[in-house]
Amino acid sequence: MHFYFLLLVLISSVGQLQCARILGVFQMPTVSHQNVFQALWKELSLRGHDVTVVTPYPLKDPSLVNLTEIDMSYASDSMKRHGFQFFMRKEYPVHTKIPKIFAINYDAANAIFSNEQFVNIYNNSKEKFDVILAQTYISPIMYSLGYKLGAPVIGVSSMGGYIGSHYAMGNPNPSSLYSEMFLPYNGELNMYERFLSTLYNIWNRLYLTFVALPRCDEIARKYLGNDLPYMADIEKNLSLLFLTINPIFYPPRPTVPTIIPLQRLHIRPPKPLPRDLQKILDDAKEGVIYFSLGSNVQSVNMPDRLRSVLIEAFSELPYKILWKYESEDLPGKPPNVVIRKWLPQQDVLAHPNIKVFVSQTGLQSTEEAIDRGVPIVGVPFIADQPMNTKVITKIGVGLGVDYETVTKEELRDVIIEVAENITYVYVYITH
Ligand SMILES: *[C@@H]1O[C@H](CO)[C@@H](O)[C@H](O)[C@H]1NC(C)=O
Ligand SMILES: *[C@@H]1O[C@H](CO)[C@@H](O)[C@H](O)[C@H]1NC(C)=O
Ligand SMILES: *[C@@H]1O[C@H](CO)[C@@H](O)[C@H](O)[C@H]1NC(C)=O
Ligand SMILES: *[C@@H]1O[C@H](CO)[C@@H](O)[C@H](O)[C@H]1NC(C)=O
Repeated sequence: MHFYFLLLVLISSVGQLQCARILGVFQMPTVSHQNVFQALWKELSLRGHDVTVVTPYPLKDPSLVNLTEIDMSYASDSMKRHGFQFFMRKEYPVHTKIPKIFAINYDAANAIFSNEQFVNIYNNSKEKFDVILAQTYISPIMYSLGYKLGAPVIGVSSMGGYIGSHYAMGNPNPSSLYSEMFLPYNGELNMYERFLSTLYNIWNRLYLTFVALPRCDEIARKYLGNDLPYMADIEKNLSLLFLTINPIFYPPRPTVPTIIPLQRLHIRPPKPLPRDLQKILDDAKEGVIYFSLGSNVQSVNMPDRLRSVLIEAFSELPYKILWKYESEDLPGKPPNVVIRKWLPQQDVLAHPNIKVFVSQTGLQSTEEAIDRGVPIVGVPFIADQPMNTKVITKIGVGLGVDYETVTKEELRDVIIEVAENITYVYVYITH
C-alpha cells in the first residue's frame, strides 16, 4: 500500500520518474496523528521530491535536505485551548465533540495562514506546487490552498473518514449500514444503533451546511481573498482522499476509486534500544508487561482509583512491568515496576521478553502491537478505543477491561491469562 500511494502521488503530479514539488499542511496538534504524516513527508523527501510542510511536530532532521518544515509548535497551546481534556471524557455526547474539533481547526487555520514564512509562500504567485497534501480531520479549510495555488489537493487522514468527507467525495454512506468513526459501533449495527447513526447523520448535515462550512469559508476568504469558490465546492473538488483504515478495525465497505485506504504507515523496522533499557529487558527472563496509555490519555491524569488498582495488580504479577509514566515519582511503586517518562514504543514491543502490551488501544499503538506480534490487554478510554478493544477480543489477540469497574483481581487475572495462554500468541503464529 505504501508503494501504491507514493506511485499515485507521482502520477497525479508530473508524470513518471520526475520529482515533484509538494506542499503538505498538517494542522492537528496531536502526536498520534502527526506520526503518520511524518512518515509520509519524510519518505517523499527521501525519494527526491522537493517537500515543504507546515506542522506543529517538525522532524528537524538535518539529513533531510529536500525538506523544508514550517514549525507551528508555538501555536499548539492555543490550538489545544478548546480542550483535549473535554474531548477525552466519555460522558460528552458525540454531537458536542464535533464543534470542538472544528474549533481546533479554526484556530489552527488562523495560526497557519498568519505565519509569515507561510504567507510568503501562499501569497506569492511565483510559488508553484504540483500537488498539495492536506490533513483531513473533519474541516476542509486547508483544501482552499489548492485553488489559491492552482494545484490538485489530496486529503490525508490518520484515521477513517468523517461523514462530511464521504459526502464530499460522493461516496455512498447509508447510515443504517455504516457507522461513523466517532460512534462506538463496529460491524453490523442493531436497530437502536441504526436509529442513532441516522439521527447523527442528519444532525451532521445540518451542522455542516448552516454552521461549520460557512465559518470555514469565512476564515479561508479572510486570508486567501474573496474570489475563492464556496467552501463546500472546494471540498468536493478534492482529487484523492487517503484514509488510514486498517481492515482489521474497519469492516469492508464500497468506496469510490478516489478514496485510497492506507494502514501502518508509521511503523518502522525496530531500532536498537537505549543501553539501560536493553539491559532491563534482557535481564527480565520472567517476562515483561509493557504498559502505556499513549500520548493523549496520559498516565499522570488517570483516575486515582484506576492507579491504585494498577499498582496493586502489578505488585502481584510474576513479571517485570515497564510503565510509561509521565512523572518522576510514582507513590507506592512496587519493586517489579520500572517507570520511564518516554519509551521508544515500537522498539520496546519488538523485544522478545515482552509478553503483553496493556494499552488504551488507540489505532496507532494497536497496529504496532499487532505488527510486533504482542498480545494486548485493552483499557480503552475515548474516540475509537472502545471499538478497537472489541475487535481485539473478537479476533483473539487479547482481552479488554473497563477502566471504571475493573478490580485488582480481574486485572491481574486477565494479564496472566493473556500472558500465559498460548491462544493469544497462536493467532499471530498461524497468520
Ligand atoms: C534530494 O533530491 C535529489 C533529487 O531532487 C535526490 O537525488 C537526492 O537523493 C535527495 N537527497 C536526499 C537526502 O533525500
Ligand atoms: C479544483 O481543483 C483544480 C486543481 O485540481 C483547480 O485548478 C481548480 O481551481 C479547483 N476548482 C475549485 C472550484 O476549487
Ligand atoms: C497578499 O498580498 C497582497 C498584495 O499582493 C496583500 O494586499 C495582502 O495583504 C497579502 N495577504 C496577506 C495575508 O498577507
Ligand atoms: C485459553 O484461551 C482459550 C480461548 O479464550 C480458552 O478456550 C481456553 O480454555 C484457555 N486455556 C486455559 C488453559 O485457560
